[in-house]
Amino acid sequence: MASIPLKKNKNKAGAGKAGSFFSQWGMFFRQFVRHPGMIGSVIPSSATLVDRMLDQVDWQGTRLFVEYGPGVGTFTRSILDRLPADGTLLAIDLNLDFVAYLEAEIDDPRLRVVHGSAADVRRFIKEAGYYQADYVLSGIPFSTLPEGVGEAICAETRAALRPGGAFLIYQYSRYVLRLLNPLFGDVSDALEWRNIPPCRMIRAVRQEALAQAA
Ligand SMILES: C[S@@+](CC[C@H](N)C(=O)[O-])C[C@H]1O[C@@H](n2cnc3c(N)ncnc32)[C@H](O)[C@@H]1O
Repeated sequence: MASIPLKKNKNKAGAGKAGSFFSQWGMFFRQFVRHPGMIGSVIPSSATLVDRMLDQVDWQGTRLFVEYGPGVGTFTRSILDRLPADGTLLAIDLNLDFVAYLEAEIDDPRLRVVHGSAADVRRFIKEAGYYQADYVLSGIPFSTLPEGVGEAICAETRAALRPGGAFLIYQYSRYVLRLLNPLFGDVSDALEWRNIPPCRMIRAVRQEALAQAA
């Protein structure tokens, strides 16, 4: 059964980063030992990777940003630092301990943390009062997911994005490209070395309606 911490010691987004560094690593490592296939990594993403992924976003035009697999919030805090005051960050994680951890640690009215699968993203978006997302960021390890789950997540994500919206993925393997290429018109891939281990940064853009019709 998942252990749910009491809602205390809440920090405003971005605050208390240094103080909670070791507790975040400990929490992440414990979850990796318990669920290696679901977590897919021994340590959280590096600050350089976080910045490079988030530098791709047009923050001014962002109202709904969705994050899959926030874990201990390595990206979540930096997303909130950049998100406009009237924006929403919808964070979806399959691991109830991570969901409880984030709810206890981050106090920001723009953040909505939900427990469930990214494959149900459209339902979660609707429940949050939105129609489509501007961006979806994913840390889910696609190459170790159960059969068919990666395909379902990619198809649902495409449907959940507004035309011109982007699916941003950080990943150790290129496996997910074979799922994205049939669905998205514009898929690009770069490598960030300053992460342990080096990480692929993938961007898949949902084409605008006119381009789709052509
Ligand atoms: C590699 S960790 C990423 C953690 C963190 N974002 C980081 O960058 O350090 C992968 C995360 O994906 C979550 N996850 C795995 N399968 C999922 C699914 N189907 N839906 C939502 N989250 C999922 C795991 O629970 C975990 O939090």
